[in-house]
Amino acid sequence: MSVRIVLGAQWGDEGKAKIVDYLTSDADVVVRFQGGANAGHTIKVGDLEFVFHLIPAGIVHLDKSCVIGNGVVLEPEALFAEIDELEEKGISTEGRLFISERAHLVLPYHKAIESASEEKIGDAAIGTTLRGIGPTYYDKINRSSGIRVLDVIDADVLATKIRANLREKNEILTKVYGVSPLEEGPMIEAYVAYGERLRPYIIDTSVYLDEAIKQGKGILFEGSQGTLLDVDHGSYPYVTSSNTTAGGACTGAGIGPTRIDDVVGVVKAYTTRVGNGPFPTELNDEMGERIRELGHEYGATTGRPRRCGWLDAVILRMAERINGLTAIAVTRIDILDEIEELKICTHYTRNGERVDHFPADLNVLAECEPVYETLPGWQTDTTKCRTYDSLPEQTKAYLTRISELSGVKITIVSVGPDREETIFV
Ligand code: IMO
Ligand code: MG
Repeated sequence: MSVRIVLGAQWGDEGKAKIVDYLTSDADVVVRFQGGANAGHTIKVGDLEFVFHLIPAGIVHLDKSCVIGNGVVLEPEALFAEIDELEEKGISTEGRLFISERAHLVLPYHKAIESASEEKIGDAAIGTTLRGIGPTYYDKINRSSGIRVLDVIDADVLATKIRANLREKNEILTKVYGVSPLEEGPMIEAYVAYGERLRPYIIDTSVYLDEAIKQGKGILFEGSQGTLLDVDHGSYPYVTSSNTTAGGACTGAGIGPTRIDDVVGVVKAYTTRVGNGPFPTELNDEMGERIRELGHEYGATTGRPRRCGWLDAVILRMAERINGLTAIAVTRIDILDEIEELKICTHYTRNGERVDHFPADLNVLAECEPVYETLPGWQTDTTKCRTYDSLPEQTKAYLTRISELSGVKITIVSVGPDREETIFV
């Protein structure tokens, strides 16, 4: 069985979870390797809808195990809310959810600092999900104040660390941001209790995955966010704080790059972005609103309306390059069913010159104009199509163009949220 990474090729919300759910049939273990509860991964199983923020979407398959790797920043409250909700729906996580002892914990002061910081910088705010992601990775990289999952094993160690950190964080909250300090007692009490509950899940997940791979088991890495939100390669500073790209799966789970067989990029049939930052093919017009309404493009984590625009092949080529994509899964084709004419941005121009690569400098990017190719829409219901051949000719032409412009073959086309609404090419 293969070791496969599924990740977002755009700005997140590409429909990764649906593709992960579909590909889980080929896997034994599903792994989250970066990000945290900023993700909102929605899957539909029959009449039930699940939204996951931390637990891999593979958990709904009762015969699979799931791993939260060292690269994830773990918010215990969000984790247990998810575990409880799953149990209410009859899905137990016992004995098949494993959490890395090396993952870092999100604490209430991370969220408080993030909210205060976003508020203070006003118009220049990143527009984060306010899940404490950036401040938790900051503490991880800063080293002296990071708290890892393994620190919850000893309540005294945990309390000492929280106490020391909180002294500093409260200084920041009160003196830098002028907001109220956080109380120590309830925080320590809550985290000691979370620690008790976390204990049975904690293992060395790198060793677990290595053994699984050596036994020939199938491993599926479930990326969160997307390529353009990668802290190194994305539209910095309007990015998340982790490596969302393929390399992140190796560092975020503790497995070597030579173990990876496939990297599947999930491409939404148009582009969306939530939060601030550049978006060359954004549609600030009726078409943008139309796509938002047709696609119900509102954030699964924050409920914010997503910004919508045409497909951008410059981004897809970047995703191909950075991730070494071996295949593409195109999602939400059905959302475009009604649209008369579709546009794909093939490249940008700047001062009359052709631009093929997404610039690092956002001032340069602001001067780039997208160049579009127009393709006819299909104006046919594609949700009943179950084979590639049964798709309308115009849909196939649109897909062919995506494949040509990105240089990657399409292996999956999604025509609706249900598991069955999937075409294997
Ligand atoms: P999934 O996994 C879309 C965006 C935020 C913001 C930026 C930084 O569901 O695709 P953060 O809270 O991570 O510090 O916010 O990243 N963002 C996402 N956008 N989908 C996501 O996850 C996202 N997670 C974070 O809106 O612009
Ligand atoms: Mg999402």
